[in-house]
Amino acid sequence: MTRAAFITVEGIEGAGKSTCLELIAQRLAARGIALQLTREPGGTPLGEQLRALLLGHKHDGMSDDAELLMMFAARAEHLQHVIEPALDAGRWVVCDRFTDATYAYQGYGRGIDLARIATLETWVQGDRRPDLTLLLDVPVDVGLERAGRRSAPDRFEREAQPFFERVRAGYLELARAAPQRYRTIDAAQPLDQVSAAIVAAVDAFVDARS
Ligand code: TMP
Repeated sequence: MTRAAFITVEGIEGAGKSTCLELIAQRLAARGIALQLTREPGGTPLGEQLRALLLGHKHDGMSDDAELLMMFAARAEHLQHVIEPALDAGRWVVCDRFTDATYAYQGYGRGIDLARIATLETWVQGDRRPDLTLLLDVPVDVGLERAGRRSAPDRFEREAQPFFERVRAGYLELARAAPQRYRTIDAAQPLDQVSAAIVAAVDAFVDARS
């Protein structure tokens, strides 16, 4: 049996993560791989409550450090109760965002020192890191336009364009720094081409692991 893998999907708002996650799940299932689909912040009862606090507008003036620590509090819970047990049981984990989102949003976006995030990453995760990260990259105006059509803006979506430009640039920097783990997909292409690129990346990953 192939060793269970931890796959994450990242990108700014409106990049098309939901479609990508569905496609990955279908592709893995078609290859007979048992998987757990989950998300951050969230994925556990406590994590989902933290998500509501983080994305809602009740605490609009939340400090950057409180935001950072709540992301990691949700992650600690998620790792202990969902991610590690699934991987131990041989199920692949496909997660909508993970710690790269913290580097991108709290680090590059908010301006928190990346070294502080790295300290929390080691504390909360030990050696656990994703095995494959798909970055869906779109120009900020395209992403925000798509996201804006969907629903009322959450606490992050209320940020102005320069915030998302920093987040996008941050993600691209993270991808450049870890090319063996990242696959960057041009998500501004027509949907069939984006889908084909996702399927190719997942198939190549599964083949290399088999
Ligand atoms: P989404 O996953 O539904 O797109 O929304 C989650 C929001 O939370 C999104 O704006 C990115 C943000 N986020 C962070 O700022 N840091 C994190 O570590 C994570 C997981 C998400």
